[in-house]
Amino acid sequence: MQILKLENMSKTYGKNKKSKQYIALRNISFEVKKGEFIGVMGASGSGKTTLLNLLGSIDKPTTGRFFIANKDVIALNKKQLAKHRMENIGFIFQDYNLLETMTLKENIILPLALSGHNPKSIEQKLKKIAENTGITKVLDKYPYEVSGGEQQRAAACRALITNPKIILADEPTGNLDSKSSKDLLNLLSFINEEYEATILMVTHDVFAASYCQKIMFIRDGEIYNELYSGKDKKEFFDSIIDVMSVLGGE
Ligand SMILES: Nc1ncnc2c1ncn2[C@@H]1O[C@H](COP(=O)(O)OP(=O)(O)O)[C@@H](O)[C@H]1O
Ligand SMILES: [Mg+2]
Repeated sequence: MQILKLENMSKTYGKNKKSKQYIALRNISFEVKKGEFIGVMGASGSGKTTLLNLLGSIDKPTTGRFFIANKDVIALNKKQLAKHRMENIGFIFQDYNLLETMTLKENIILPLALSGHNPKSIEQKLKKIAENTGITKVLDKYPYEVSGGEQQRAAACRALITNPKIILADEPTGNLDSKSSKDLLNLLSFINEEYEATILMVTHDVFAASYCQKIMFIRDGEIYNELYSGKDKKEFFDSIIDVMSVLGGE
């Protein structure tokens, strides 16, 4: 089943202003099936964050449209869009984006509290997800009191607690040490398999990318190549390195 479909999506920055125009994405079209775990790779400045921000409705495309669960997202009004983002999209950022004045627990349940779920069902969901991610013990701590790995796992819990249709992760392991990276990647894989969550993960880390089933490479705002993970992980890893060395960058 297809969960996401992009049709000729472009993004030009600096429209309507005197500033120089810059085409960050050019006519991108692709489809994602439910339950796919996709990596997005490409040199710095190739348009990866732009793509994720458009799909998460943090920003709007200049042209084109996209569908999530057959819903034309561009056509939604403001109220529908807010609901759609709350229910269907989970975002994980490189720098966690937790609210510093709230405990991890408060951060995680925020999306549910905002959408008016009842306290009992919130507690149940929290308990389950915190256990799955191993952060039960630190739930009452503030972000500055825990490690980066724990903050990122809390951020992942916040993204997942609404059971979103799509999880968008922008370099989620970018600030983590190798142990915490591994924990987070295992968590994403678990969520992908257990809940059939669809994941789009931007990364420039080949190790992180090797967890994905498919990699889409972006160059100058266009899809340059795609690679599928086969039975042989080592081969997949080596093929990713080959394409990245052509694309340059990190
Ligand atoms: N808000 C913005 N205004 C103008 N240019 C931008 C803006 N955001 C990104 N860009 C430019 O668009 C290009 C793609 O950026 P981005 O999507 O962040 O790349 P990546 O995440 O692949 O490093 C870059 O050249 C960047 O400088
Ligand atoms: Mg980026």
